[in-house]
Amino acid sequence: MNVAVKATSSSNRTGYKSFELGSFKFSRDEYFVYIEWRSKKGRMTHYMSADAFLRAMMRDVAWGFFYYQVNFDHVFGTNNLYGRVQMFAGSYNETFKAQGLDLIETFETPQIMATFQAILADWTNAGFDPFAAPAETTTDWLGKKHGNNDTAINRQRQVSKRMVGLPGDTPIRTDANGYPVNRAFADVDQSQPEIHAEKGYEGRVHGFNLFAHLSRSDVTWNPSVTSVCKQSLFCPTSEEYILPIKHGNDRVEWFIQLSDQILWDVEDKATGRPRAKVVMKAGDVAAMPADIRHQGYSPKRSMLLVWENVNPRIAEMHATGEIPPYPIKF
Ligand code: PHB
Ligand code: FE
Repeated sequence: MNVAVKATSSSNRTGYKSFELGSFKFSRDEYFVYIEWRSKKGRMTHYMSADAFLRAMMRDVAWGFFYYQVNFDHVFGTNNLYGRVQMFAGSYNETFKAQGLDLIETFETPQIMATFQAILADWTNAGFDPFAAPAETTTDWLGKKHGNNDTAINRQRQVSKRMVGLPGDTPIRTDANGYPVNRAFADVDQSQPEIHAEKGYEGRVHGFNLFAHLSRSDVTWNPSVTSVCKQSLFCPTSEEYILPIKHGNDRVEWFIQLSDQILWDVEDKATGRPRAKVVMKAGDVAAMPADIRHQGYSPKRSMLLVWENVNPRIAEMHATGEIPPYPIKF
């Protein structure tokens, strides 16, 4: 589908273009991004540091708006309606909402996607990789516009059809195919399991070294689907610094902390009120309820397994109260 993106053709004094979608306006300068909208009480402007905005925008674009809600921060974000997308400011912030300062608008997915891709492309300077840990990229996100980094922002998330390493599926990562071991995981065993399948089961019985796979991830906070079993997706990821979004779920998701430690802030999905602090150490397992939003902090690069349920009815079952927002009633 061909969709027009509304951008001002002339760039501002810092060289960046400004954009419009519905009643929202977006602009940036050396340090900050400005999001403007009209609330019941008049024009509002919200600002974010440009690096935080670009890291969040990168995930929203690369994940196709993800499962339900992506909050860039406590004010701005998107809801995936799976076909259409809502963009909001203040709608899930108790104070903004109570004061009538919020706005939510709905767009066809291709239209909001094209706008977000255009913003990301124009506002990402050469040398800055919004997927990388801060220690593994540059401070090129700041300053006047200088170049772009289309290679980094067009990187595709890896999705296996059945499992990493099966013939015709996502390949096992090696130095040769561009995935060296990360500096933090130099001690991770790189051997692969031996597979001796019974005759007739070749290509059906399989295994691979998940720790080796994750030790070679070149990005952070980007779960990839490494195995698919019916409606169960294993989406492991390597994490460092801060999850650039606060994710508001529409289903329960399980976390298994495979190495090191992540601190999670858990808030109420509708209001943003604090609900829990979760410290996950290697080996810990947690179920994140369907009525929360969460953001992780990983002091050192760590490995996390996100286990997703893609039952096509699951979101509706939670939304209608057919099932509770948590997996077990004690
Ligand atoms: C999540 O919101 O559940 C999430 C997103 C990205 C990650 C890990 C967890 O890397
Ligand atoms: Fe989540």
